[in-house]
Amino acid sequence: MVKNNFLKEYKNKKVLITGGAGCIGSNLIYALAELELKKIVIIDDLSSSSRWNIPEVSNLVFVEGDILNETLLKELFSEKPDYVFHLAALFANQNSVEHPQRDLMVSGIGTLRILQQANLSGVKKIVYASSGCSVYGNHAPLPLKEDYISINLDTPYQVTKLVGELYCNFFYNYYSLPVVRLRFFNVYGPGEIPGKYRNVIPNFIYWAMHKHPLPITGTGRETRDFTYVEDIVKGILAAGVIPQAVGEAINLASGKETKIIDLAKSINSSLNNKEIIFQERRKWDKASCRRASIVKARKILGYEPKVEFSTGLEKTIDWIKQNITKIEQSVKF
Ligand SMILES: NC(=O)c1ccc[n+]([C@@H]2O[C@H](COP(=O)([O-])OP(=O)(O)OC[C@H]3O[C@@H](n4cnc5c(N)ncnc54)[C@H](O)[C@@H]3O)[C@@H](O)[C@H]2O)c1
Repeated sequence: MVKNNFLKEYKNKKVLITGGAGCIGSNLIYALAELELKKIVIIDDLSSSSRWNIPEVSNLVFVEGDILNETLLKELFSEKPDYVFHLAALFANQNSVEHPQRDLMVSGIGTLRILQQANLSGVKKIVYASSGCSVYGNHAPLPLKEDYISINLDTPYQVTKLVGELYCNFFYNYYSLPVVRLRFFNVYGPGEIPGKYRNVIPNFIYWAMHKHPLPITGTGRETRDFTYVEDIVKGILAAGVIPQAVGEAINLASGKETKIIDLAKSINSSLNNKEIIFQERRKWDKASCRRASIVKARKILGYEPKVEFSTGLEKTIDWIKQNITKIEQSVKF
């Protein structure tokens, strides 16, 4: 049983977050802000987020830049961060299909450079953001368990998420770099700005607020394992400091399936919207059902998802409503 006092490890430490302006990064910053760190540095090129989404907390330094910029990376790592959370990536599947080279650069070369710098600077731990909807492919038995891997993947994003894991393994095996691979599942919550390449939940909320029919690409009976971002952040914080996580791949998920049609109906009913339309499934979107095993996360990290889907959904709707003016200015469809 993992004790919950591991969080004190962060006190007076320096943390570097790549992609810190994004959905998970911004929520991670709020959580770290409670832990009396010496410094939180984030690097983000704002390619899929906005400056206003970066929390205003003390000891935070925001560096606007690209993780592919080696000079910048050297500067950031010369400060010797204790913990690195590598969240930057080209988001996500459809974007990578349309921009495969950029995806490979950011998630492939970018991840390699972060690992190299982390290794040279001697970090205490680096946490890599992998994706459960990537590495398991679309034929894996449910619940999805960490020891199953597919090499038949459907998008460049999925391929480079797996490549990132393979590089993590190389640095762990060859250099003993203390790295943890976390496989997130369908993260949602405050901090995700709707947009062309974004996830279904913020986009459904945005369209429902604008009284547009919600487009389901498929039959609606497809399921996903939606995980509230606060639960993900708790898992990330635990993975950062718990020694037993080093060298492991660990799912972070809710462990529950939700049908897309039920999601659409809930959002419509919360926002007094009516219509749902059905469209052809996207060619790469082949997995009909997804549910993760969280046995390993429970055992190693003491992880327990706490936020019920209905509560998380209402909090996400509230956040989008409260920020709608800024969202309207940043949204790219
Ligand atoms: N959200 C999910 O459902 C989910 C699921 C599985 C895995 N993940 C992974 O978790 C990580 C964080 O996800 P998120 O939902 O917060 O995504 P996000 O897009 O909200 O955040 C990623 C951030 O990285 C930044 N970024 C992109 N390219 C960059 C570059 N070259 N240099 C610097 N910054 C760059 C973006 O501007 C963005 O702010 C990503 O690696 C993603 O692949 C997310």
